[in-house]
Amino acid sequence: MTQPPADPLRVLVVGHTAELGGAELALVRLCAALDEGLDVRVVLLADGPLVDRLAGVGIPVTVLPADPDLVTASRGSVVGVSWRQVRRLRATVRAVAALREAIRTTRPDVVHTTTLKAHVLGLAAARLSGVPVVWQLHDRIAPDYLPVPVVGALRRLARRGPQAVLANSMATATTLPGVRDLTVAYPGFAPEQALAEPPQHPPGPAVVGLVGRLSPTKGQLELVRAAPDVLARHPDTLFRCIGAPAFGAEDYARVVDAEAGRLGVADRVELAGFVADPAAALDALTVCVHASPVPEPFGQVVVEAMVRGVPVVATDAGGVAEILRDGDGQLGRLVPPGDPEALAAAIVAVLDDVPAARAVARRAHTSALERFDVATTALTVSAVWRRTAGRRRVPART
Ligand code: GLC
Repeated sequence: MTQPPADPLRVLVVGHTAELGGAELALVRLCAALDEGLDVRVVLLADGPLVDRLAGVGIPVTVLPADPDLVTASRGSVVGVSWRQVRRLRATVRAVAALREAIRTTRPDVVHTTTLKAHVLGLAAARLSGVPVVWQLHDRIAPDYLPVPVVGALRRLARRGPQAVLANSMATATTLPGVRDLTVAYPGFAPEQALAEPPQHPPGPAVVGLVGRLSPTKGQLELVRAAPDVLARHPDTLFRCIGAPAFGAEDYARVVDAEAGRLGVADRVELAGFVADPAAALDALTVCVHASPVPEPFGQVVVEAMVRGVPVVATDAGGVAEILRDGDGQLGRLVPPGDPEALAAAIVAVLDDVPAARAVARRAHTSALERFDVATTALTVSAVWRRTAGRRRVPART
């Protein structure tokens, strides 16, 4: 962003983690696409790679370090009573106080929260400061994703707390019944991620790739289990899992590896780890697989594959089902979640007739360019900010 004008709308974005997960990458792209009538600052409760990424698109970031136990507590570990929870409560109170102080000094028109923990902490701090709040939901608030008591509490909070809620898909939006001001803002791809024209099929043996952090929710295990059936028909195929284990999923990497060994496909399965250039990694694929066994809230990598013209096979659930359907048309192959046999059959169908799959991918490319441009995301989100801030403006900062 360039220098904002004299009295821009001031937005304070609150996130809890500075690791580069999907929600954080979406935030960087959004910030880079915002117009000049906005003064956006970010506060994070931990330091990490997100800080530099945001700085790189001109966004000032303040880190208010919270107790690491509060920042890293998993979605499943926040219920129950223990000394650890008491300690977390103390850390929560301190984090809310620090956020209130950040609100006092930056005097935003709107507080915008981007992660589940930030929704709760940011809402408390903003409410105590009398500033309107927008939640941007990147997670489905559903019992297959979060502990039941957390689902109930978040749904109640969503109805009463924030002035407006943004959801990353219809699938996410439908997990919040009764929220009055609810808008879908699909996370968009950045211009540099897309190819203007889908390329030719890369030469050499087929590469079936899954791009995403190594996690049971992303389905690397299902892909490994589909491998033997694919190899029976296309023995040269290589399976490549691209992405580092994140958010404490190191054990899962070992499970995936062991399963590949047990099925006798270890020499065909590559755990490629983190890649600096995901677009180049996508370009090398014959087919991009999205195998999440649980419904994915959105599924940015599916859009990223589409804007590179790469054929997609994905599980038919959550936001991904929305991405891969445009009107009556289907823009890739959809399979039931958690079904390695169906996954294998769909991959085989692509490899049996790559030109046909590339033709579908060309339609997917056109559709994604039209529907998921980050400029549209920025317009939708900033319209919600302006509308929400209109409910309470504070005098300009001097
Ligand atoms: C989260 C969701 C993912 C989504 C991303 C951006 O990482 O798990 O589905 O694509 O946020 O909204």
